[in-house]
Amino acid sequence: MGEIIAVASQKGGVGKTTTVVNLGAALAKLGKRTLIVDVDPQGSVATSFGMGRYDIRAGTLEVFTKDLPIREAIHKTEIENLDVVPSNVWSDDADKRAMMGAAAESKLRDALNEVRNDYDFILIDCPPSLGNLTYNALIAADSLIVPVQCEYYALKALGRFLKVVRSVKATHNPNLRYRGFLLTMVDLRNNLTRRVIEKIRYTLKDLVFDTMIPRNVRLAEVPFYGKPAILFDRSAKGVAAYMRLAKEILYGSHGVGADSDEKTHEEGGKVKVA
Ligand SMILES: Nc1ncnc2c1ncn2[C@@H]1O[C@H](COP(=O)(O)OP(=O)(O)OP(=O)(O)O)[C@@H](O)[C@H]1O
Ligand SMILES: [Mg+2]
Repeated sequence: MGEIIAVASQKGGVGKTTTVVNLGAALAKLGKRTLIVDVDPQGSVATSFGMGRYDIRAGTLEVFTKDLPIREAIHKTEIENLDVVPSNVWSDDADKRAMMGAAAESKLRDALNEVRNDYDFILIDCPPSLGNLTYNALIAADSLIVPVQCEYYALKALGRFLKVVRSVKATHNPNLRYRGFLLTMVDLRNNLTRRVIEKIRYTLKDLVFDTMIPRNVRLAEVPFYGKPAILFDRSAKGVAAYMRLAKEILYGSHGVGADSDEKTHEEGGKVKVA
């Protein structure tokens, strides 16, 4: 049975989509059958795979609003072992977005149940909000990857999100665990970045992946090329980093410990995990 991992954070632009797309590609290259599911109406996963509006037969919209079996919304990619369910809610479809947002909280979990035996990993790309679509993802998921950009207020910004995760654990999904917090867009030449990393590692301890994702222009070019970076520059630093992350997920020690009742501290308030 495949593991369902939600890649989530209510903060925008922290590298959720970049992680889903390039980690998905890395896992698939390592022979793992991987499905990417985009529940973000921005539809960036489709863009990252070069899919335009008319390339999409059906997507998360029909799964959420028309009870379409998710199998019928699965599209193959150029990479063997890697499939996607794109989001096909376009920015002008306010009504459809509203319908999707009103779907039952367990809609995605029920839909994914039909296909989870076909995959080793299912990665869910979440929108930058704490609305119903993110709830759906947190209820469907076995585990969570939380990308964190190394800024001064990174930990503070996480507070509300971690609270929502605790409440989903308490009410709907007691087995939800952290796969890890992932430091993204890291530039180690920057002094402040190094201090922020130290602080995040001190606060969140072994819940932080050893692997860090560097700031790398090849990763930013994914939407331009319409494919995961591994397909246009295998030697890029960013590609190597997502490959290391995939191996850490497969062979590393993360994913244990999220259920500990660990209390962590941060200036101006507590950050409590799990
Ligand atoms: N490691 C990186 N190096 C350089 N650019 C990056 C990196 N990761 C992400 N980016 C770029 O930063 C921007 C935000 O990344 P991304 O879209 O993955 O974030 P997101 O969390 O999915 O955003 P949103 O919340 O809007 O969905 C994009 O332009 C992306 O190409
Ligand atoms: Mg995104």
